[in-house]
Amino acid sequence: MLSNSLIEKISRDLNNSKRVVAFTGAGISAESGIPTYRGKGGFWTKYDPDKYASIDYFEKDPSYYWSFFKESRKPILENAKPNPAHYSLAELEKREKLRCVITQNIDGMHQQAGSKNVIELHGTTRNFRCKRCEKFYTLEEIGELLKVELPPLCKECKGIIRPNVIFFGEMLPQDALRRAISEAENCDFMMAIGSSLVVYPAAQIPLIAKDKGAILLIINVEPTGLDLSADYVINEKAGKVLPEIVEHLNSIS
Ligand code: APR
Repeated sequence: MLSNSLIEKISRDLNNSKRVVAFTGAGISAESGIPTYRGKGGFWTKYDPDKYASIDYFEKDPSYYWSFFKESRKPILENAKPNPAHYSLAELEKREKLRCVITQNIDGMHQQAGSKNVIELHGTTRNFRCKRCEKFYTLEEIGELLKVELPPLCKECKGIIRPNVIFFGEMLPQDALRRAISEAENCDFMMAIGSSLVVYPAAQIPLIAKDKGAILLIINVEPTGLDLSADYVINEKAGKVLPEIVEHLNSIS
């Protein structure tokens, strides 16, 4: 249990804030069984990001991405369910205490938990498109194609199918980034949850909010490079902390 006074202070500030925004990373989905990228057991300790997550390597050899996707990511995604941290943010949005979730995650957990206003800076691995004709594919359709061929080829034009994620080496979706920056510039309370805050330009979002005078709360089990700039740092699991904050907020508002 976190100290009551800390939860009380955070909940009070949250309650007095008018434009609250959440910024999330892989850590918020860790309790859903989706591995984070860095730190012990992280995805990048098993797969080489310079191969798995690089557009140049995907262009050269898409089967590297697709074999590890089929072996590891797809089963994890199919079994993953939102955890109390995702549901807490969805509840805050429903109570009109959260304007949006800006996420680096590609797992779709926020939407499955009920969050409506989600800005996906790194795209999504829940759907796919043909590189040649842009035909859209769902995760289920990809699962069927992967049973018979790897890499999966477009049913229309036999082009290579790719995930709608942003690979390293690709630009972030400009509209999503613009919206995220605008939300960060105009918020008065920013929660950075479950991110190592090392991948730019996404990691600049909490910093922009802080620079514009917002209260910055960091919830992360390990220290981050932004901790010294934060008003509050909680090194606890998001699935434990967020429900406590929401529960206290409900009791004072
Ligand atoms: N609750 C809170 N924080 C947690 C939890 C948890 N249950 N479990 C792990 N963490 C923390 C870890 O300590 C780590 O600092 O979450 C953080 C996850 O950091 P990363 O694995 O680096 O994930 P993220 O910050 O989202 O990475 C950013 O890097 O590889 C790219 O595109 C990928 O979007 C990703 C980006």
